[in-house]
Amino acid sequence: MTAPQWARAHTNIALIKYWGKKDAQLMLPANDSLSLTLADFYTDTLVRFTDSIATDQFALDQQPITGQPLAKVTRVLDQVRQLAGITAPAVVTSRNHVPTAAGLASSASGMAALAAAAAQAAGLTLDHPALSRLARLGSGSATRSIDGGFVRWFAGHNDATSYAAPVPAAPPLLADIRVVAVVFSDQPKAIGSTAGMARTAATSSYFPAWTQRAAADLHRLLPALNAGDFVQVGQIAEGNALAMHAATWAADPPFTYFLPATLALVQGIQVWRQSQGVPVYATVDAGPNVKLLTRAPHVAAVQRWLAAHFPTAQVVVTQAGPGISYYPAGKEVD
Ligand code: ADP
Ligand code: DP6
Ligand code: CO
Repeated sequence: MTAPQWARAHTNIALIKYWGKKDAQLMLPANDSLSLTLADFYTDTLVRFTDSIATDQFALDQQPITGQPLAKVTRVLDQVRQLAGITAPAVVTSRNHVPTAAGLASSASGMAALAAAAAQAAGLTLDHPALSRLARLGSGSATRSIDGGFVRWFAGHNDATSYAAPVPAAPPLLADIRVVAVVFSDQPKAIGSTAGMARTAATSSYFPAWTQRAAADLHRLLPALNAGDFVQVGQIAEGNALAMHAATWAADPPFTYFLPATLALVQGIQVWRQSQGVPVYATVDAGPNVKLLTRAPHVAAVQRWLAAHFPTAQVVVTQAGPGISYYPAGKEVD
């Protein structure tokens, strides 16, 4: 075993959403998805394997965590132990620089950082596709947080074929795309992503239409990214997000992650864009918060518009972020 290091992984925002599993045991998604890794939201995690404790311990933001969140951590650790041929329990210490369980993808950065830190602490040398498969066992969206920039998760048909890889995009688009996160609530959501997508996949009459739509959207998004066509990218991402949320309304029992403010912002942005021609598009994950996609020259106008129409929302402007990195333990990171 090598000396443990902190691993840092960034969250991502899906432009083509993952919403539904075809195999919950193997964590295989119903459809391919594609995201942008974000610079300003991330998790730092340290893993230490030790025979001095009886079972895995997990502390998040200095709180001991048990139950389902610990079980998901253990799932990733078990796979690492199997690959490394070790049996020792682990002490996992993690810090989220993103609200936890609020629809801002803490499970993506959290599980990607865990996969990287655990593999490193066990002395494994895994390439990025292998790390993405490991992260996938903790949370699907984490599959896409091992790499930076635009990343595609190939749904695959078994553990070996369900992994993520970076997607080529025109360099100017990657450099000046901006994500304006509009946070209405940083509180944990009532229905977690795992439960929300399971209910949608099992009961929504729109679920088959959703998976077909996601495949068609991805097919159109890839050339738009390659060409650096931001307007196309924004239109496809906004439509895909709203189609995913439509599927939750058609579930049984029906539900939505939207708050009234979520809808007001999505509609307001559409009206503003149409009347003023500002290239700004909305996407929403499993929570009430909205992420606006725009380009660097328009960020100030977007901020002014938000201050005028949603003065109480917390606004964070961010851009494309990097893949995983490591920091020596002992040196404080924040
Ligand atoms: P989110 O929108 O924040 O991703 P989810 O419902 O998908 O919400 O996931 C929240 C869950 O992700 C938490 O209950 C916990 O199980 C897991 N999680 C969040 N942060 C971490 C972390 N740093 N390390 C390990 N697991 C984490
Ligand atoms: C709406 O990856 O959080 O953010 O795999 O059950 O942990 P589990 O769910 P999670 O779901 C993410 C849903 C989404 C869309 C996306 O990130 O692709
Ligand atoms: Co999540």
